[in-house]
Amino acid sequence: MCGIVGYIGEKQAAPILVEGLRKLEYRGYDSAGIAISGENVTVVKEKGRIDNLQAEIDKVYPVGTIGIGHTRWATHGIPDHINAHPHTSMNGIVTLVHNGIIENYIEIKNELKEKGYVFKSETDTEVIAQLFDNLFNGNPVETMINVASRVEGSYAVAMIVKGFSDRVFTMKKDNPMIIGKGNGENFIASDIPAILPYTKDCYIVKDNDFVELTKDGITVYGLDGKEKEIEINSISMSVDAAQKNGYDYFMEKEIYEQPKAFRDTVSPLIKDGRIVLPFEFPQGFTKKLNRIHIVACGSAYHVGMTAKYIIEDMARIPVIVDIASEFRYRNPILNENDLCIFVSQSGETADTLASLRESKARGAFTMSIVNVLYSTIARESNGVIYTNAGAEIAVATTKALMAQLGVCYVLAAFLAHEKGLMGDDILHQFTDEILAIPEKIERTLTTDDITKEISGYIKDRHSMFFIGRGIDYPLCLEGSLKLKEISYIHSEGYGAGELKHGTISLIENGTAVVAIATDDALLNKMISNIKEVRARGAFVIAVVKEGTKGIHEVADKVIYVPSASRYLMPSITVVPLQLLAYHTTVLKGFDVDKPRNLAKSVTVE
Ligand code: G6P
Repeated sequence: MCGIVGYIGEKQAAPILVEGLRKLEYRGYDSAGIAISGENVTVVKEKGRIDNLQAEIDKVYPVGTIGIGHTRWATHGIPDHINAHPHTSMNGIVTLVHNGIIENYIEIKNELKEKGYVFKSETDTEVIAQLFDNLFNGNPVETMINVASRVEGSYAVAMIVKGFSDRVFTMKKDNPMIIGKGNGENFIASDIPAILPYTKDCYIVKDNDFVELTKDGITVYGLDGKEKEIEINSISMSVDAAQKNGYDYFMEKEIYEQPKAFRDTVSPLIKDGRIVLPFEFPQGFTKKLNRIHIVACGSAYHVGMTAKYIIEDMARIPVIVDIASEFRYRNPILNENDLCIFVSQSGETADTLASLRESKARGAFTMSIVNVLYSTIARESNGVIYTNAGAEIAVATTKALMAQLGVCYVLAAFLAHEKGLMGDDILHQFTDEILAIPEKIERTLTTDDITKEISGYIKDRHSMFFIGRGIDYPLCLEGSLKLKEISYIHSEGYGAGELKHGTISLIENGTAVVAIATDDALLNKMISNIKEVRARGAFVIAVVKEGTKGIHEVADKVIYVPSASRYLMPSITVVPLQLLAYHTTVLKGFDVDKPRNLAKSVTVE
């Protein structure tokens, strides 16, 4: 949510900043801007996408080798030119960009107004700039520390300070920030893809780090103002991961990368038919494990719901699944025999992170399933399993979700084995089945043609339903979310048995209903539910396993997918749902990768 970049070196900064912002555009695209440092600071900013900013830069042509940039997802103030970052303080002391929310901004703003500060924008960000201006004592690092002691909320800030035109400063709390270390140049970014073309060496900025960058140095100070030792990490991600490589959209590319994402995630966890986790539970923990809580947002929450079906069935451990924004405020009952699992692609989602901290404070063992290396959720959990899906750029997640599912299968089997409910032989057999999934996902990608054809039918619908039972139910929620978030067709996912408790009244002639029926034990019940909606005029698209009998008679269109163990079917079933959303959106002419109002990494509550 909001992307920040910074550059300090010998090259012209503007093109590097713009390229960096393009890589971070998934974090927000309401407006964008840059500030270039020199004798004077030049600010160029514009409403809308990076292309609009580029057009402005082409007119102004800001020259300079030091600068900061921002792409905005609006929180405080409408997405217009005035509210776009960077913001400069009234006396021109500081120009800065910000990601996050300052919760006590009204209080500080009123104080500063009384002191004569005049505000131009409606943003909370401008308050940081004016406060810095007001507290400035000639030492930017000390002033940042003083600002940090006044502001409440979350922030990652990059700034240029008057009189220090050969440096850039940053500070952060609860929002991500990394420093890329180059040769005679250094970089700042909210996320790794922005610096990947230039360097693989990075420092992950910690909360309450105050960083001073020159082209040759990275100096980090703590809250006490003392210089800190820092560790430079080497990033293994390739530049390729952040490029479209011939695909029209990142989402399409990422859908096609799913066999690899799944394989790269599960393979390191399976050795000779046994499961090897990258961390250890406390001694005896799995034996006395009382309850599992899975906490996540968006699609990651759907992964949690799927995992509940699998873990409860295989390992007979009760699983409670929560949306993070609810979990953190509902006073959950937790103790040291509980395992809390946090699922997050970005590893930075504000509500998931807060839930993790709350669970830790209450004594639960915390583990996370995270895609972005060194992200805050990954670092703060007691144990982490990384999904090796690579950089995911499209706002609508696909391959990260696929990799998260892989971890859930492995974890369910691990727990079932630990509890003595799954013998070595069955475990070996099951892990073999998991390892066979990438090839099945590959085959499922051939549903591209039929989903494209069906998209032609659903693109003009105003409303759609996804219905299913058992393990297919969470996928209904996911298929529905995917479709509505990018194609803007209203859609609802429902447990097929629940539909007649109200919602069936919305089914009328031509309403499209996707019915997922991959569980043999529930097939007949699904067929009855399909008949019910069809009798009311629905156009039914069934998603079933190859070889399923009796479905053509009741559905208008059938999407056949390869068969796998019941527990592993979600990895197969989800693919045509993703393709359906993708093709429908392409046909409607919308920007698949950047749906309106959304951002990929939600770092505010
Ligand atoms: C946003 C994204 C979703 C994602 C959710 C949770 O809404 O658009 O794709 O599922 O955040 O994000 P996380 O990074 O925690 O998985």
